[in-house]
Amino acid sequence: MTMASLPSSLHLLLSLLSLLSPVAISTTFTITNNCGYTVWPGILSGAGTPPVPTTGFSLSHGESRAVAMSPSWSGRLWGRSLCSTDPSTAKFSCSTGDCGSGTLACSSGAAPPTTLAEFTLAGSGGLDFFDVSLVDGYNLPIVIVPQSGAATGKCTATGCAVDINGLCPSDLRVFAGDDEGKSVACRSACEAFGKPEFCCSGEYGNPNTCKPSSYSEFFKNACPRAYSYAYDDASSTFTCATGTDYEITFCPATTSQKAGEKIPTAAKVPLINDTMVFMGVVDTSSAVATHTWSTIFASVIVFWLTHLHRLFF
Ligand SMILES: *[C@@H]1O[C@H](CO)[C@@H](O)[C@H](O)[C@H]1NC(C)=O
Repeated sequence: MTMASLPSSLHLLLSLLSLLSPVAISTTFTITNNCGYTVWPGILSGAGTPPVPTTGFSLSHGESRAVAMSPSWSGRLWGRSLCSTDPSTAKFSCSTGDCGSGTLACSSGAAPPTTLAEFTLAGSGGLDFFDVSLVDGYNLPIVIVPQSGAATGKCTATGCAVDINGLCPSDLRVFAGDDEGKSVACRSACEAFGKPEFCCSGEYGNPNTCKPSSYSEFFKNACPRAYSYAYDDASSTFTCATGTDYEITFCPATTSQKAGEKIPTAAKVPLINDTMVFMGVVDTSSAVATHTWSTIFASVIVFWLTHLHRLFF
């Protein structure tokens, strides 16, 4: 009797002590929308993971929200764009990233093509694992910036910082409604063509047979740290000590690269491909013909900020 009750009272004491300690009660995700339009983040928890305080909400331009996650949470987070509530059915839906719930809250994942921020907090080796994935296509720029934690080689900013909708290959483009002028998302080759070699399925279901395609290379060139196809692990998975807080930003523009440099031992792969940004400006192929002038203007600004300003300041 006493033998059994001692450990349980010890356990209770330890639980009470851990409640008083400020360490690892929650991991904060600070989610910010820098896009020039409203983004509706969606959150889907993995099976068996602790629940989240919210599964979907709205963030207007410039707005930020801190969400307390369990330090052992795993799941994915994404942005929905061009959302509205149908006045006759009262159903909420989005042109990109829709989770099919008909409401602001989500209970399933995003309809592709959607950029995904993926997390496995408190994974093996006392590490959080995280990545930004374009395996299911792309809709919005997302960057994850760890806020603290040991500066190990793989504890660094990742994501897809650039808006690639205007650069998306024509056979992968997605348009909202019947507006053929402006691409709002970019499909993966797997979704667009359904071929096993693009989906890494069937005989291509392992890293030795499933290789990058010209389509996955388009995503990789634009966003060197993001997953561009299923077996792109080596340059796309990042880890920080469990307990690290994360900033997740939609449309980080150029501030993200600076934020990424807060941690000096950043992975060797660049966060933004300067060449790709530059090509967006000078490319005279058909892709540029469909560019809106605002995209070209934005590319010039990005190029200036990431490159030329070093000559002057
Ligand atoms: C940047 O993009 C160019 C053009 O697409 C490509 O050749 C180059 O390999 C890319 N660099 C990185 C680091 O991905």
